[in-house]
Amino acid sequence: MSNKKQLRIGLVGTGFMGRTHSNGYNRVGNFFPELQVQPVLKAVCARSEDKVKVFAEQWGYESVETDWKKLVARNDIDAIDICTPNDTHAEIAIAAAAAGKMILCEKPLSRTLAEGQHMVDAIKKANVANTVWYNYRRLPAVTLAKQIVASGKLGRIFHYRANFLQDWTISADLPQGGTGLWRLDSDVAGSGVTGDLLAHCIDTAMWLNGGIKDVSAMTETFIKDRVHQLTGKVQKVGIDDACLFHCHFENGSLGLFESTRYARGHKALYTFEINGEHASIRWDLHDLNRLEYFDHKDDSIVRGWRSIHVTDGDQPYMDKWWVPGLGIGYEHSFVHQVADFLKSLETGQPCSPTFQEALETQKVCEAVINSANSRSWKDTGVDWKG
Ligand SMILES: NC(=O)c1ccc[n+]([C@@H]2O[C@H](COP(=O)([O-])OP(=O)(O)OC[C@H]3O[C@@H](n4cnc5c(N)ncnc54)[C@H](O)[C@@H]3O)[C@@H](O)[C@H]2O)c1
Repeated sequence: MSNKKQLRIGLVGTGFMGRTHSNGYNRVGNFFPELQVQPVLKAVCARSEDKVKVFAEQWGYESVETDWKKLVARNDIDAIDICTPNDTHAEIAIAAAAAGKMILCEKPLSRTLAEGQHMVDAIKKANVANTVWYNYRRLPAVTLAKQIVASGKLGRIFHYRANFLQDWTISADLPQGGTGLWRLDSDVAGSGVTGDLLAHCIDTAMWLNGGIKDVSAMTETFIKDRVHQLTGKVQKVGIDDACLFHCHFENGSLGLFESTRYARGHKALYTFEINGEHASIRWDLHDLNRLEYFDHKDDSIVRGWRSIHVTDGDQPYMDKWWVPGLGIGYEHSFVHQVADFLKSLETGQPCSPTFQEALETQKVCEAVINSANSRSWKDTGVDWKG
């Protein structure tokens, strides 16, 4: 019997993220044995009783609920993990905070800035531990990029460039709304690629390169009308299918961002590149264990882009896994976020990104949409402290 402190999890939503988070809770103790807090899969919630029972059995949850309000009201739950579509984040988080629960919320924090602000107000009032699952930060190569930038090796930063490209909504026959397709319904998702994909790019960008001051954006909705899965009627599509924006960072560098679900051949091509005075780095989700690095200070006869295989024990998180040379995967970023959240409970330090930091990303998303709609530059109002 372990004498570790327990963190009793109540998870809402049994889709894609419900699985990645459950895997994280299940694995973390095996690979981070030093942690003094251990997650316990107390309850999982989904609306279909049959499905939630199957999920609970598969992932090891002790009990099930079919109404998140009952989950939030339970005395044997310490933390609520929100893995449901974007339109539910605010209501669940605000209720969970009022009940004194810690909250781990999926990104984007909210559909709109105003909704996100209510969430931040609620967690501040309740003074509960919180984090938002911008998990890409916790891939070892991305964390290494952060360390390299922080070391000053790049010198003054001139450019930050990021893409997140997919191709899964090109067919005009694809309906919008309902199971699996809520991302195409603006009432549920809030926005299209801006909140779904660019939010990741913006979070990573501000974490690596500081606050984004102002933006100029364009968006496009290529398929204007789609059948709604729930009503069966053809309805106007309200999301942005593609979004491009450029921006100024507070440090004087220029940013260029592109996201689309219409880049035929690309499934989840998240890339970023940073160009500094002395050195540059670039990263590609499709080759996630590698970080590319160019250092102009290298001796000219060997100078060139080097491809760092981020698998050595002295590189971020990698002492927790196998032996040098062996890579890890997408799912490990969630294990790392669970580990960092548990560690934050031991140290009392916030687990970044907090709701407040995720709100800063919402400010950029909102400015991007407003800029595209008004065809003008918009200040973001970001106050980045991360
Ligand atoms: N961090 C990441 O990289 C990442 C990746 C994918 C999705 N997400 C985010 O995670 C969230 C969920 O996305 P997903 O891909 O897992 O979606 P999904 O459609 O696969 O799963 C959503 C789940 O929520 C359930 N659900 C919906 N409303 C509910 C309610 N009222 N009560 C209980 N359960 C309810 C659905 O039945 C489903 O099981 C979204 O906010 C999304 O933006 C983040």
